[in-house]
Amino acid sequence: MTEPSTAGPAGGRSEGGHAHDRPRGGPGAEAWKTAFGGTYLDLYASEFSETLDRIQVGDVIDMLGLFTGAKLLDAGCGQGRHLKQFIDAGLDAVGLDFSGEMLAAARGKGLPAGRLVQGDIRSPPFPAGCFDAVASLYTAFGFFDDADEDLAALKAFRRVLRPGGWLVLETIHAGGPARMWPERKSYPLGPSAFVREENRVDWKTGTLDQVVTVESGSARPRVFATRLRIYTKRQLSELLEAAGFVDIACKEGFRTDPQAPASFGPLLATSSRIACIGRCPPHAPA
Ligand SMILES: C[S@@+](CC[C@H](N)C(=O)[O-])C[C@H]1O[C@@H](n2cnc3c(N)ncnc32)[C@H](O)[C@@H]1O
Repeated sequence: MTEPSTAGPAGGRSEGGHAHDRPRGGPGAEAWKTAFGGTYLDLYASEFSETLDRIQVGDVIDMLGLFTGAKLLDAGCGQGRHLKQFIDAGLDAVGLDFSGEMLAAARGKGLPAGRLVQGDIRSPPFPAGCFDAVASLYTAFGFFDDADEDLAALKAFRRVLRPGGWLVLETIHAGGPARMWPERKSYPLGPSAFVREENRVDWKTGTLDQVVTVESGSARPRVFATRLRIYTKRQLSELLEAAGFVDIACKEGFRTDPQAPASFGPLLATSSRIACIGRCPPHAPA
């Protein structure tokens, strides 16, 4: 899930936002477990590039002051686009993702199987205190039906971090932009496919339901459907604090234009994306 754009499946220009009941035919319970795969990859292919991945990873490394050989967990690594850049930059990085299809796409990019682990971010299968940093990038957090599960994931990140290790959580900002996403939009995808997208924000639950349907000739339509909890700066800071992180700060998230200045500038009310960082207490047991 990305910031609103006129080209991507995650929304576009303002048409106003309202509280809504759950849409009929919206994402089912635990939609995230099956949502991420071929359709998602097709939808987002044109938004990503190695250049952009490298710039974003450089911004993470600079912000957290990560050194060569640092052990990093890319939690929700998906197709491994950032993971590949972390490894190329000399980090000892490992990716974790629930989706077998996304991990297969990562292997298809040449990432070694030993760097890719299938599992749930709430229970990362790693020893306590074994990472210098955990990165959850480009909206790989917030898909659970119950908000307490987000807290469980943060506690799990803290468990695998060494004392003093950093977490960076980068996702959609529940600020102005999310309020302005159009409820419906459609656009072509390549020469022969067409996309219909529905975005519904429920401000009572703080969730965004997104249903994206790809139609291509007489083929059966393909659907990408997720429910995402979108956070404000205060909510995300409080969640990190509740999970035991210290030195918490919220910044603007990734820039998605390679020509734009570096990511992680000051968070504005109008910022599309948010990055929240926090440290495992330096002297606390892991
Ligand atoms: C929007 S994609 C982002 C992937 C990657 N970080 C990137 O920037 O390309 C979200 C990813 O998070 C993964 N994910 C979501 N919830 C997860 C969970 N509870 N445990 C493990 N992976 C999860 C999905 O399978 C998906 O690959």
